[in-house]
Amino acid sequence: MRILVTGGAGYKGTVLTRKLLEHGQRVTLLDNFMYGYEPMMHLATNRNLEIVKHDIRNGIPGMKDYDVIFHLAGISGFPACASNPHSAQLINVEATRQIAADLAPGQMLINASTTSMYGKSGEPCNEETPVDPVSTYAMTKLAAEQILHDKPNVISLRFATVFGFSTRMRMDLMINDFVYKAVKEKVIVLFDSFAKRTFIHVEDAADCYIFAMDNFDRMKGGIFNAGGNSLNFSKDEIAAKIKEKVDFSVVNSELRDKDLRHFIVNFDKIEKLGFRPSRTVEQGIDELIRVYGFYEYFSHYRTI
Ligand SMILES: NC(=O)c1ccc[n+]([C@@H]2O[C@H](COP(=O)([O-])OP(=O)(O)OC[C@H]3O[C@@H](n4cnc5c(N)ncnc54)[C@H](O)[C@@H]3O)[C@@H](O)[C@H]2O)c1
Repeated sequence: MRILVTGGAGYKGTVLTRKLLEHGQRVTLLDNFMYGYEPMMHLATNRNLEIVKHDIRNGIPGMKDYDVIFHLAGISGFPACASNPHSAQLINVEATRQIAADLAPGQMLINASTTSMYGKSGEPCNEETPVDPVSTYAMTKLAAEQILHDKPNVISLRFATVFGFSTRMRMDLMINDFVYKAVKEKVIVLFDSFAKRTFIHVEDAADCYIFAMDNFDRMKGGIFNAGGNSLNFSKDEIAAKIKEKVDFSVVNSELRDKDLRHFIVNFDKIEKLGFRPSRTVEQGIDELIRVYGFYEYFSHYRTI
């Protein structure tokens, strides 16, 4: 099989690419390297890996040659899309429109979608729940999902917020950010501390992509929440879990969070097919404390 990972140099893409290579697959990693080459250099000597520097705004070169396309490239997350709405539209939506147009019937495409589109209802959401995107990020990801699902040979995985260590760290993700502040600044300011989110470890997220590839015939045409029923937590609850391991203070702000998301997600659909995350939030917190504890470099990745 020939496998393409767009956004393969990203937070999730580097972990997914590593796992695919460990499974003996031949992989093409395509990225414009907006966060540099360093995050994927540990994979660069693998003879089964081809590395392509390319911007998906210009389509995908040789796209018809791939059996499986994992489509991860994009402007990812609330802060990055809020500060780059133009790029978010062009990359997350218009480039995906071109990829959908070029997709041949025999190919498999697995799309990196998001639970962010469930909005701020605070209610439990499954895949049938009407979506209510409340950010540029969620709006562009919903548009991309709708474009792609015009085709039958697409799976969308609506991922929970990812956490844990990757060689391309994302410090805007809630658990990664909170642990950093607890370890380095000894204080976390909570806005909307009641707000519920849902989480998945980056290694489990990569396993979930591979699960979708391995179960493509059972899942094709479908949209699946990708995470675990035991991984829905409020900001308060996440801060309390970190407090069990690090000493820091919490300041509750009366200001509202600009990111209004507040929802509980149900993952029964993917669980019934046999996927369940195996890492806990506590494991992720332990890893992050260890890595942040000795490695100053992550301060360069901070966007907020
Ligand atoms: N991390 C999460 O919590 C999460 C949750 C749900 C969905 N997702 C989705 O998963 C995907 C990957 O997210 P991530 O956390 O790894 O983000 P990331 O920002 O680390 O990775 C995105 C990658 O896409 C590349 N890229 C951006 N624009 C490009 C372009 N025009 N051409 C080629 N490459 C380009 C970037 O260089 C980067 O390597 C995204 O589509 C994101 O929306 C992420």
